[in-house]
Amino acid sequence: MEPLEPKYNGHIFELHPLAVRSDKRRQGIGRALVTALENEARKQGGLTIYLGADDEVGDGETSLANVDLYEDLPEKLSKFNPGTHQAGFYLKLGYKIIGVMPDANGYGKPDIFFGKRL
Ligand SMILES: CC(C)(COP(=O)(O)OP(=O)(O)OC[C@H]1O[C@@H](n2cnc3c(N)ncnc32)[C@H](O)[C@@H]1OP(=O)(O)O)[C@@H](O)C(=O)NCCC(=O)NCCS
Repeated sequence: MEPLEPKYNGHIFELHPLAVRSDKRRQGIGRALVTALENEARKQGGLTIYLGADDEVGDGETSLANVDLYEDLPEKLSKFNPGTHQAGFYLKLGYKIIGVMPDANGYGKPDIFFGKRL
């Protein structure tokens, strides 16, 4: 799978979530990879880069797991807590939550969409 996929006539690029080997984390590798992919998407004319990050592990990692996302979603987004989820990494890199897909991975296990203007 390509790490970057053009969508919407190339205005938008989807970043396929990446994983850094567990013993190599927190050394700047993830940031370097995402920054390089952002630069590539910008070079190709992209205006926004986004990714979907599932919250599906165990009982859920973020504050958007196991809640009714059809009930006052703006309030839930304003109080978002990433917990142990990789969401914390994307927020650190300047991404914002731009949407959710409720129950994407089963009841109470959403996909969370993160986007950043290029
Ligand atoms: C998320 C992930 C890619 C981050 O990679 P990394 O190489 O550890 O990230 P970096 O070292 O470049 O971190 C960049 C910044 O984000 C922060 N950060 C990294 N992971 C974080 C997390 N889980 N929560 C909050 N902040 C995080 C770092 O502390 C760093 O902040 P700093 O610049 O202030 O020091 C990595 O933890 C990972 O692979 N996780 C598993 C992801 C997964 O399950 N993927 C499957 C998807 S299909």
